[in-house]
Amino acid sequence: MRIVLLGPPGAGKGTQASRLAERLEIPHIATGDMFREAAAEENEAGRRIRKVMECGELVPDALTNDLVRWRLARPDAQDGFILDGYPRNVEQADTLDGILDDLGTKIDLAIKFMVRGSDIVARLAGRRVCPVCRTVYHMDTHPPKDDEVCDNDGVPLIRRDDDLEETTLRRLEVYGQQTRPLYEFYGERGLLTEMDALGTTEEVFGRLLAVVGR
Ligand code: AP5
Repeated sequence: MRIVLLGPPGAGKGTQASRLAERLEIPHIATGDMFREAAAEENEAGRRIRKVMECGELVPDALTNDLVRWRLARPDAQDGFILDGYPRNVEQADTLDGILDDLGTKIDLAIKFMVRGSDIVARLAGRRVCPVCRTVYHMDTHPPKDDEVCDNDGVPLIRRDDDLEETTLRRLEVYGQQTRPLYEFYGERGLLTEMDALGTTEEVFGRLLAVVGR
């Protein structure tokens, strides 16, 4: 299956995408993770991407589209994938159609994660990540076993730079202006399914499996 996950920052897309990818045995392709990796590099490209992300803006479309074109052509993505964080605007969605056309395939399903504003704030405020293995925690709903260190490697957890309040507000604005139009884009093509993303991660995962027919 070729699936696109859509929703505001903090809706739980990454959390669910990694579980679904494991279940369906297809790759979880998250442009945010790819850019965070690039931003950690001490070179000109890394510094530029870091600056854009720290402001809550989108990385330029040309760079993002090239990255996704490269990733979707990799052998492990030929039997399906879950896209998380891409496309992010109509220009990217059009480009994605073109990339998939070239590969002789198409999107099967776009899933919209429905959450309330108050939940987004709570989820982003409590999020902590491991800077090494990238495991995502939440201090209330999915805390690490030991205070603020990763269960996998014992490394102190960090807050993402773009989870600070001011940047979060800008990310939500960018989402409203640029990403929301994608609901119409995929709706008109008959590919959009809306899914309630409130409740525990288990409950949401159950709904997600039902949406993808598993
Ligand atoms: P990206 O990493 O894609 O961020 P995002 O879309 O804003 O999404 P988040 O990662 O914030 O949230 P999520 O929905 O994955 O939630 P999560 O599962 O972590 O992008 C970051 C930046 O990269 C962008 O701002 C941009 O600069 C750049 N970028 C990325 N893609 C780009 C593109 N295509 N074009 C241009 N630029 C791009 O969950 C959040 C928290 O809630 C966690 O703590 C989790 O444990 C908790 N949680 C999850 N589910 C539940 C639940 N059911 N109940 C309670 N808590 C829960």
